[in-house]
Amino acid sequence: MKKMLIAGNWKMNCNSFEATVLVEYIWGGLLEKILKSEILVCPPFTSLETVVKVLEKAPVHVGAQNCHYEPKGAFTGEISIQMLSHIGVEYVIIGHSERRSIFGEDDELINNKLKAIINADLKPILCIGETLNERNEGKTFDILKFQLEKCLESVTESDIYKITIAYEPVWAIGTGISATREQIVEAHDWLRTYLISKYGSVANDVIILYGGSLNAKNAESVLSVKNVNGGLIGGASLNPEEFLIIINVAENILSNS
Ligand code: 13P
Repeated sequence: MKKMLIAGNWKMNCNSFEATVLVEYIWGGLLEKILKSEILVCPPFTSLETVVKVLEKAPVHVGAQNCHYEPKGAFTGEISIQMLSHIGVEYVIIGHSERRSIFGEDDELINNKLKAIINADLKPILCIGETLNERNEGKTFDILKFQLEKCLESVTESDIYKITIAYEPVWAIGTGISATREQIVEAHDWLRTYLISKYGSVANDVIILYGGSLNAKNAESVLSVKNVNGGLIGGASLNPEEFLIIINVAENILSNS
């Protein structure tokens, strides 16, 4: 059966007061629903503990947007996975294109984070995706292969299902221009085939999210794609009504599948 994860990446938005208002609204919209999909919100570090507490009894999971791979030490400004785990965070987004392009994170660093997250029994969401130039030059699948090979280095068949992959074409992030359904079908089919060729049939269970200008309007078209198991949603996840619509779309797709 198709699995679905609807995840909000809030980026650098919402102080802890605003975060509380937002998740209480989302939770309010989910009351008395028996959800088939998994719901996740990823607030900034300073709101994480508050959001975990507010959502303690809610069917909504909480993730961080980054971490350091060492458990502790002289790394000014960094947050360890153990610190996140201690406050009840379950997921960590890594390799987001904003961290790659603005903060210079490379695939080797992302691989270190990924291994440390798995070792700490948290769940990594690994973001990959091509730039517009790379797509226009016909290099999309070379880039995806390169990123996967480096970021998943030394990950075995027994661990691959613990990793969520988020395909986020860089040109679709925050632009209002989502990839087309055809582009998403092509990329997600390619990703599934690649993962199965490398890890075997266990890779059928890997959650593959789409991210990049996903919203209430295009959710049905994107989330109904066979190898799309949900979305990593930026801007639209900050609007609780829109986030709830996207969750409903996912629920309807799962109910009819
Ligand atoms: P937008 O949904 O705002 O395009 O952001 C996508 C994203 O970067 C999610 O990680």
